[in-house]
Amino acid sequence: MKAVFVTKFGLDTPLEAGDAPDPKPGPGEILVRVRAAGVNPLEVSVRQGAHPSAKLLKLPYICGTDIAGEVEAAGEGVQGFKKGDRVWGRTAGGAYAEKALLAAAETGRLPSAMSFAEGASLAIPLLTAWNALVIKAEAQAGDAVLVQGGAGGVGHMAIQLARRMGCRVLATASSDEKADLCRQVGAEAVINYRKEDVAARVMELTGGRGVDVVVETVAAENLATSVGLTCVNGKVIIVGNGTGKGGQGTFPLRDAMGRDARIITLASGFLKPRLPEILRRLDPILESGGIRAHVGREMPLAQAEEAQKVLLSGKFLGKIVLKP
Ligand SMILES: NC(=O)c1ccc[n+]([C@@H]2O[C@H](COP(=O)([O-])OP(=O)(O)OC[C@H]3O[C@@H](n4cnc5c(N)ncnc54)[C@H](OP(=O)(O)O)[C@@H]3O)[C@@H](O)[C@H]2O)c1
Repeated sequence: MKAVFVTKFGLDTPLEAGDAPDPKPGPGEILVRVRAAGVNPLEVSVRQGAHPSAKLLKLPYICGTDIAGEVEAAGEGVQGFKKGDRVWGRTAGGAYAEKALLAAAETGRLPSAMSFAEGASLAIPLLTAWNALVIKAEAQAGDAVLVQGGAGGVGHMAIQLARRMGCRVLATASSDEKADLCRQVGAEAVINYRKEDVAARVMELTGGRGVDVVVETVAAENLATSVGLTCVNGKVIIVGNGTGKGGQGTFPLRDAMGRDARIITLASGFLKPRLPEILRRLDPILESGGIRAHVGREMPLAQAEEAQKVLLSGKFLGKIVLKP
């Protein structure tokens, strides 16, 4: 099969197209003909060698994690999936490829109304939004939630999920186009963080109380502001430092303590044992069209290098997806 490889850590060495043997499904696994692969900041940070999981990889390796496609074969003991079924999920063996393996217990069913490109936009973004809002924040109906980076992969999922949970959703974005997407998917108000004072606007929109939850996708730039605009006993869920923005941030200790704030980090890799239950709960929501992915850009697999550059530039809406 055709695949796209990382041959050396660091973004100076371009991704390389090549051939790899077709993966063989082991017990509990399904072989998927990949129709679309999501482009996520995770694989860029792994490729840079900066992510902890990079230490576990042997070069060259196939880049990427999120896929959608059709089941081609099932390994021993797999029940409930047959050839031709449309599925989505997170593969451990590399997503930028024509074929990939999924653990059957961690595989979602792709509704017929959803394209493969949408399906490839679900695994990391939606499961991370679930982790942030349902598991870590335990957000409640009526809570005010601010989604920092609302038009990004995680952000536009978090807006939709928070709305479904009955929350009031505010979001930040850098342009009118991105603000429109945030509103389309359910944000009540969008703040242009380049032009407006985010903290002042949030206080205005919440009558001076602040928000119950911040879903923070750009902690490197926003953590201090985000802590300062939570209500007493509010939560800042640190989903990420920001695409391509490194690993450090400034923690405003006095502001956090002064409002009894809870600052919670997450890494969605740890969701693995909970995935079967999360997928069961997500299934009806996706089937009814209750949450949809916005695919801002589809590119051929051969343009994987360019796709990651677009991701780092921020010049896209929602998700970038590769088509083998
Ligand atoms: N912990 C985990 O398990 C996990 C899982 C998924 C993602 N992440 C991390 O979460 C972050 C977001 O992921 P993603 O997939 O949503 O990335 P993405 O699709 O690249 O979206 C990031 C969004 O942030 C916006 N942004 C940039 N600077 C901003 C700022 N100062 N304030 C507000 N928004 C800003 C970007 O648009 P503009 O530049 O136009 O503003 C873009 O819309 C990344 O750091 C990623 O590594 C972590």
